[in-house]
Amino acid sequence: MNILIVGSGGREHAIAAKLRRDDPGASIYVAPGNPGTDGPGQNVPLSASDLGGLADFASDHAIDVTVVGPEQPLADGIAEVFEARGLPLFGPSRRAARLESSKVFSKQLMRDCGVPTAGFEIFTEYGRAADYVTGIEPPIVVKASGLAAGKGAVVAESVDDALTALREMLVEDRFGEAGREVVVEEFMPGAELSVFFLTDGENAVPLVPSRDHKRRFEGDRGPNTGGMGAYAPVADGTAELVEQARREVADPILRGMAERGYPYRGFLYAGLMLTPEGVKVVEFNCRLGDPEAQVVLPLTGAGLAEPMAAIARGESVAGWTAGVSTGAALVTVVVSGGYPGPYPKGVPMDLPVDLEAADVHLYHAGTAREDGRLVTSGGRVVGVTGLGSDLAEAATRSREAAARVRFEGAAWRTDIGHSEIETSAG
Ligand code: AMP
Ligand code: GLY
Repeated sequence: MNILIVGSGGREHAIAAKLRRDDPGASIYVAPGNPGTDGPGQNVPLSASDLGGLADFASDHAIDVTVVGPEQPLADGIAEVFEARGLPLFGPSRRAARLESSKVFSKQLMRDCGVPTAGFEIFTEYGRAADYVTGIEPPIVVKASGLAAGKGAVVAESVDDALTALREMLVEDRFGEAGREVVVEEFMPGAELSVFFLTDGENAVPLVPSRDHKRRFEGDRGPNTGGMGAYAPVADGTAELVEQARREVADPILRGMAERGYPYRGFLYAGLMLTPEGVKVVEFNCRLGDPEAQVVLPLTGAGLAEPMAAIARGESVAGWTAGVSTGAALVTVVVSGGYPGPYPKGVPMDLPVDLEAADVHLYHAGTAREDGRLVTSGGRVVGVTGLGSDLAEAATRSREAAARVRFEGAAWRTDIGHSEIETSAG
């Protein structure tokens, strides 16, 4: 099979590695990829935003399925560009990807389809939004409607902080177009869970649930990041809960989207909150999570290329299951000093070798080659996934390998999965 993966982060490295394990004979290309994807795949010097160039490549190389890793090309309509040329692509259309690219769209659709989520109001004017938040009890959740690279959601502990967030979005234009419309929503207490479904638009097949750690520092303190680590499986993510999420969240959303003329195909990411009142949706994303993919894919027993190609051809995946492997996986993300604030780039780095034998997968995220030398090129530099028969073993492997990633300013959280490991140890 000929496969093209679009993107250049840790998630795309994990997708390439998974597809390579599934099919050692496949031709796997990654555009543009990173130094880690050039191995399981072959890098192609095309930007993820060059939609026409990607379609030309897929056509010239008889690609059986193009898999889109990040949200931006989907929000920009890569599915429509490929469809117009009869090229098979796995990922939602621009209109369907509004589930992630517009929080206003997503919240209204959830309300219309009866999907449980936090109560909300929509604002475009600072004055009205300010009047509204002044009357409610903190914490107050303020979100830019558009794509903001994980920085558009603020959980404000006071009315003043909520007003600051609203001012940044609606007055100071800090998020550009993405922040001109704002959702103010009810705070939901509880633990978060990421559940990914592979869907043909009608059937939603769940992958193993995982848990991300978004805050920068140990003990879930500090600013929000793209994700500092993740683990799977999660004790809270029982088979019953996943089935409930499929029935009460995925199915009604897919039905609602199909009925409205924009069926959703691809990976559907349901960010859930396990509240005292039951499961509620925090957000949807139109792709796999990063870094969650780095633990979910190694635990996915079934091959993914066939169902993704079938969905790209418009076929059904009724009856397919993801086949969860036994054991656990835990990823620690090693980040640049300063992240999520400003950080240096081009810092020379060294990676530990011979990891696979030690049940560790190393996924490149923000790395590059300069004059033949490996250097840092992003905030999240590498993700180190430890595999084990249980979470404690996976954690030990991940943390030991993370400590062996060497570059000036390297930092990571030492407590990914900590509370789950403590609980299971009784
Ligand atoms: P989002 O961009 O919607 O994923 O929000 C980012 C993070 O903010 C989530 O992962 C949650 O940790 C937190 N969050 C968002 N919305 C809520 C909410 N309504 N109640 C509590 N926490 C929230
Ligand atoms: N790790 C959260 C996300 O991918 O959106």
